[in-house]
Amino acid sequence: MQIETLILGAGAAGMMAAAHAGPGVLVVDHAKAPGEKIRISGGGRCNFTNMYCEPARFLGNNPHFHKSALARYTQWDFLDLVQSHNIAWHEKTLGQLFCDGKATQIVAMLLNEMDKAGAQLWLKSEVTGCTFEKGQFKTGIKKDGKAIEVISKNIILATGGKSIPKMGATGLSYDLAQQFGHSLTDTRPALVPFTFEKGRFEELSGVSLNTLAKNDKASFEEGMLFTHRGLSGPAILQISSYWREGESVALDLLPGTDLIDILQAQRSSGGRKNLTTEMATLLPGRLVNFLGQHYDLKGNIADLSNSRIEGLSDMLHSWQLTPTGSEGYRTAEVTLGGIDTDGIDSRTMMSKHQPGLYAIGEAVDVTGWLGGYNFQWAWSSGVAAGRAI
Ligand code: FDA
Repeated sequence: MQIETLILGAGAAGMMAAAHAGPGVLVVDHAKAPGEKIRISGGGRCNFTNMYCEPARFLGNNPHFHKSALARYTQWDFLDLVQSHNIAWHEKTLGQLFCDGKATQIVAMLLNEMDKAGAQLWLKSEVTGCTFEKGQFKTGIKKDGKAIEVISKNIILATGGKSIPKMGATGLSYDLAQQFGHSLTDTRPALVPFTFEKGRFEELSGVSLNTLAKNDKASFEEGMLFTHRGLSGPAILQISSYWREGESVALDLLPGTDLIDILQAQRSSGGRKNLTTEMATLLPGRLVNFLGQHYDLKGNIADLSNSRIEGLSDMLHSWQLTPTGSEGYRTAEVTLGGIDTDGIDSRTMMSKHQPGLYAIGEAVDVTGWLGGYNFQWAWSSGVAAGRAI
């Protein structure tokens, strides 16, 4: 079978590229359905982009690589597409745009766009190998038990990263990129919950609060959740992308609250109020009890010295915790690292080593913050490759 362009992976990036790559496109995926991560994303409503999408909100070895594609197909372009399909949407928080209805509307929209472009889709199909001979790619594909050789001028690698292996994540794009002379940057789970020693936060499981999670590289003020294994919630997922094993993170449990001011004012008001009672007006009760077992929260506010108030404030505004690890690819939303962007043209997503080979989406060493940024990268890089073909 001879075609123009073979796209490996019918995920967010692959489908978007297929809608823009012109005639003669075949998209191949080993899953039973396309866009499975879109379907489960954003709690089933797909946080499909972010109003504040800007290059500084992406990580990768080259902080400039993603700028061109993001500038040429923006969050507003994707929003126009969503609106042209009459998909109702809303901003949830921090510029995060979600479907009012189901995430499957986004999958249906992409399938519709692929259809309009005349792209074919093969599901439940395995890639058995790929070579480049006499100016064209020869890719072995096993479909319905049959071995088929697909000959194409172009190949787009769009099989994503390593996160959620249960959903069929594989390293196919990494392997093929390496085969054609690309190097990979170190990969690690990102946007992932932290784990701690067994039982460390057991009694706090289910407690949530607004927190500022920070280290020397970044800080995020969002929700945080104690789990029976450790810490989760948006603030934690965000900082996890900037964390490495052995490092600590600091949690400001009272962001924007001047605890010194509050306690000194209480002290000078002359009343006798228990410190634990006061803390329970500022933090969840279970957390106050927990902190009281480890730090001195006893006594009366009227008797607190300035240095004790300052010590308490320091602790609550900068609670230092050292995770033992993360939940890993099992629950990570994305993979940090991937195909080294040094080997890819930032305008077209084409390989600098192998003409006709392209790499897009999460497989590439570009990782966004939580909040719609990763899908925006999938859309933008997919369009960049599609238009270049
Ligand atoms: P993606 O993973 O979407 O697609 C890859 C495709 O390749 C899959 O269809 C897979 O089956 C296929 N494939 C893999 N190996 C193959 C092989 N060997 N042969 C054939 N096919 C193969 N982002 C965001 O911006 N907003 C959000 O709300 C969320 N929410 C979210 C929730 C959860 C639970 C997860 C795990 C992730 C998110 N994300 C997110 C991240 C987002 O889903 C992710 O960044 C994009 O899906 C990446 O798009 P890609 O197309 O690059 O890979």
